[in-house]
Amino acid sequence: MAYGGDYNPEQWPEEVWAEDMRLMREAGVTMVSVGIFSWALLEPSEGVFDFSRMDRILDVLQENGIAADLATPTAAPPAWFFRAYPEALPVDRDGRRLSYGSRQTFCPSSPTYRRASLRIAEALAGRYATHPAVVMWHVHNEYGCHNDACYCDTSAAAFRTWLRARYDDDLDALNHAWGTTFWSQWYYTWDQILPPRATGAVPNPTHQLDWRRFCSDELLSLCTAEREVLRQAAPGIPATTNFLVLRTIDALDYWRWAPELDLLSNDHYLMSDDPEAEIDIALNGDLMRSLAGGSWFLMEHSTGAVNWQPVNRAKNPGEMRRNALAHVAHGADGIAFFQWRAAKAGAEQWHSAMLPHAGTDSQIWRDVVQLGTDLKALAEVRGSTVAAQVAIVWDWDARWALELPAQPSGELRYQDLVRDWYTPLWRAGIAVDFIRPDDPELDRYKLVLAPSLYLVTEAAAANLTRFTESGGTLAVGFHSGMVDENCHVYLGGYPGAFRDVLGVMTDELFPLLPEQTTGLTGDVPAATTADLWSERIRLTGAQAVASYADGPLAGHPAVTRHHHGNGTAWYLATHPDQDTLTALLHRIHQEAGATPEHEAPAGIEVVRRRGTEADYLFLIDHTGKGAEAPAEGIELLTGTPITGTVTVPPGGVAVVREPR
Ligand code: GAL
Repeated sequence: MAYGGDYNPEQWPEEVWAEDMRLMREAGVTMVSVGIFSWALLEPSEGVFDFSRMDRILDVLQENGIAADLATPTAAPPAWFFRAYPEALPVDRDGRRLSYGSRQTFCPSSPTYRRASLRIAEALAGRYATHPAVVMWHVHNEYGCHNDACYCDTSAAAFRTWLRARYDDDLDALNHAWGTTFWSQWYYTWDQILPPRATGAVPNPTHQLDWRRFCSDELLSLCTAEREVLRQAAPGIPATTNFLVLRTIDALDYWRWAPELDLLSNDHYLMSDDPEAEIDIALNGDLMRSLAGGSWFLMEHSTGAVNWQPVNRAKNPGEMRRNALAHVAHGADGIAFFQWRAAKAGAEQWHSAMLPHAGTDSQIWRDVVQLGTDLKALAEVRGSTVAAQVAIVWDWDARWALELPAQPSGELRYQDLVRDWYTPLWRAGIAVDFIRPDDPELDRYKLVLAPSLYLVTEAAAANLTRFTESGGTLAVGFHSGMVDENCHVYLGGYPGAFRDVLGVMTDELFPLLPEQTTGLTGDVPAATTADLWSERIRLTGAQAVASYADGPLAGHPAVTRHHHGNGTAWYLATHPDQDTLTALLHRIHQEAGATPEHEAPAGIEVVRRRGTEADYLFLIDHTGKGAEAPAEGIELLTGTPITGTVTVPPGGVAVVREPR
């Protein structure tokens, strides 16, 4: 298991490096990411390279047996670049050209940026392709984190090129796809099309959706261009770029990105206002494992507080260790932090690190050393993966489209809706994969959930329907199946694309106001309420499981169940309270025959990674009280043989190697 973090020795006098090496060895660090933001030092003026410092850094690492994940520094172009090419600075939606002085402030479509970034990538790759310390390429850093879109004229031209390819050079096809007869938006020539810049009223939805697709593709083309340069120079060294799946950052369609990389890595940060951030870790980890089709690498998380939220919460005792080991449980084969040594100066001086400002006489340092020991003990877990009977559909097109303006409700957040459904499964210890809606091998699952699939293509809806017909259980959440890939409403009643498989027809939507709730009765716990959403359903084959107890829809079905072909399709046409959702999903997964990974008391997170020779049962205590669970094998973190019962310490973790 690789262990380490971002290492920025250029921020420190070279005397400090020796101490870094000594402490890295003490903590069990095996790999660090270097050079991520080093462009200004590596290329002090255009085309003039100075690799002397990087030579010394890599040599020092090599001498100390620490591997390097060497980054292309292209996320932070230097000042000289923007002085020479001011047109490469991005323009925001409101037409303001941004200035340099932070990082990732460049136009993704700028030819000068592309040229300059490939030149430094090529120079770096040429110089270090055979350096023995370099084991991985770190392409750029978190594409789309700060510059998901640029609205300048160069981007407009690139957008038009992308659109001509998407619509086969057929402007009428674009006009029809975008529905431009509405509000007099018809385009007569390609050059009339602009990025969706700030405008007076609601912009065209399909225009915006295509724009998001374009922006993701545009950044991807920068990434693959760099990857190509690295591959040419060093075909044997795997290339990754660090993904970032956040509730608030969703610029990239990672289903399209994943196949382009040799290895997937993710950055994960806790939100200070999330009372159950451990669920976010699990969800992210499962999503990464699904994107990777196996194990992945945690490129960044934090030892303590970050510095970019309104108030930056420190981690509670034991929380950092639980976080890191939870990432491993959900498929990470290596753990790293931002960053090695806490910065004294610069924008991130208040961000935690492996080696805090206080130095080694600190709780964080002691925890970092402990984690190094833990990861050594888990070495054999590497390469094992999770086998799930349940899959949740995750789709960036659906996410982007759902969160466009002028929806029936502006209160719907994709990741929150998915997490609502993920949470009960997580609590029950049921392993979950994330899948694309058009996944061709759905039959490997007993249960497929589509909590939020506002946009779905006809082919994907047919895929989910076929899965049900051939005996699977499908559960669909409200406001799904509403529009096609062009954001056109499926006519004839909602939820258009899923009407037949669900056996229902909705003629009108009744979203609820913030704070408004409605009661539910039927086969649901007493005093059930729901919020966010309701709709008037007519049954066309399904049976009502629960109905509205009050309000304008009193007596109308709210939750339905439909035998379709050899399978069953559930529809949750509202947003029940979490207890009721838990009860419903319990019934749904039980009827589908999906089973928990292991028996464990409430509050213990359970994940099983399956290896070729053994399985690894992860038990993580989130109650603070600890617990006992049945198990047989060896507890790897302590090396203790387990016969019958394993003890999970309060706030701690147990990992049992189970015999086959
Ligand atoms: C990440 C970024 C790092 C660092 C970190 C702070 O988004 O990749 O460079 O800024 O956030 O939390």
